[in-house]
Amino acid sequence: MLTVGRWLKTSKSWFNSSKKISENSVASTLSKRRSCRSFLDRKPPEGLILDLIDKARRTPTAGNSQGVEFLLLEEKSSVNDFWRVSFLGRDRSSFAFPGLFNAPALVIPFGVPSMYIDRYKEDDKGYTNLGENAKEWTVPYWLTDAAFATMALQLLAIENQLESCFIGLFEREERIKEYFSIPETYQALGVLVMGYPNTEEGSPGRSQKRKRRPLSKVVHIGSWRSPL
Ligand SMILES: Cc1cc2nc3c(=O)[nH]c(=O)nc-3n(C[C@H](O)[C@H](O)[C@H](O)COP(=O)(O)O)c2cc1C
Repeated sequence: MLTVGRWLKTSKSWFNSSKKISENSVASTLSKRRSCRSFLDRKPPEGLILDLIDKARRTPTAGNSQGVEFLLLEEKSSVNDFWRVSFLGRDRSSFAFPGLFNAPALVIPFGVPSMYIDRYKEDDKGYTNLGENAKEWTVPYWLTDAAFATMALQLLAIENQLESCFIGLFEREERIKEYFSIPETYQALGVLVMGYPNTEEGSPGRSQKRKRRPLSKVVHIGSWRSPL
C-alpha cells in the first residue's frame, strides 16, 4: 500500500509480471463480487453446494471450537416453505426483490454458543473466564466464525459461476427455527440466497447504490488521529 499525498492507493503490481493474477484469484473475485437479488430458476449440480459448504467450513474458529452449523435448503418445497414462513401474514407481492424467490438454494449458517462455552471451559482456555455463559463474551465468536465461513462460501460460489445475496432474518428467525426444528439456542446469522444470476432482471437496491468509502477514511495507519 502506498501513501500518495493525502490518499492511500493500493497497488496492483505486487506480483512480478511473469505471474499473472488469475481470473479466479481472491483479489479478482472480491473486485467483481456484488450481491445478486435476481436468480434463474435453475438448479446447481447435485452436491455442489454441500461440497462448497464443506470447503467453506475450513475457515478459522475460535479455539477450534467448530461451533458453526448450516441448514441447507435445496428441495423446491423446502425453499418455498422458507419464503412462506418468512412472509407469514405479510403480502409479498410488493417485495422489492421478487427475483430472490427463484433462487434454488438457501443456506442458513448458525453459531452454536454452547460449543464455545464448553471449549472455553477447558484447561488451556480457563484464563479467559468465558466458560460460564454466553453473556461473558464481549465478542460472540460463534457469530464471528459463522460469518467467516459464510464469506468463504460466497467466494466459493463465484468460483463456481454461482452468485449470492446475504440477507437478514430479523423477527423471522424464531419462525424459521421453529418450522425447521432448529435447536432453540442456535443463533442464525441470516440466510445466504444462492443460485445462477438472472442478468436480465433486477435493479440494485438503495443500499447497493451507496458509494464505497475512500480507503483513506477507512484505514488509520499508526494512530487514529494521524492525517494521511
Ligand atoms: C449482515 C448483512 C445483512 C444484509 N442484509 C440484507 C438484507 O436484509 N436484504 C438485502 O437485500 N441485502 C442485505 N445485505 C446485502 C447488502 O445490502 C449488500 O452487501 C450491500 O448493499 C453492498 O452491496 P454489494 O454486496 O453488492 O457490494 C446484507 C449484507 C450483510 C453483510
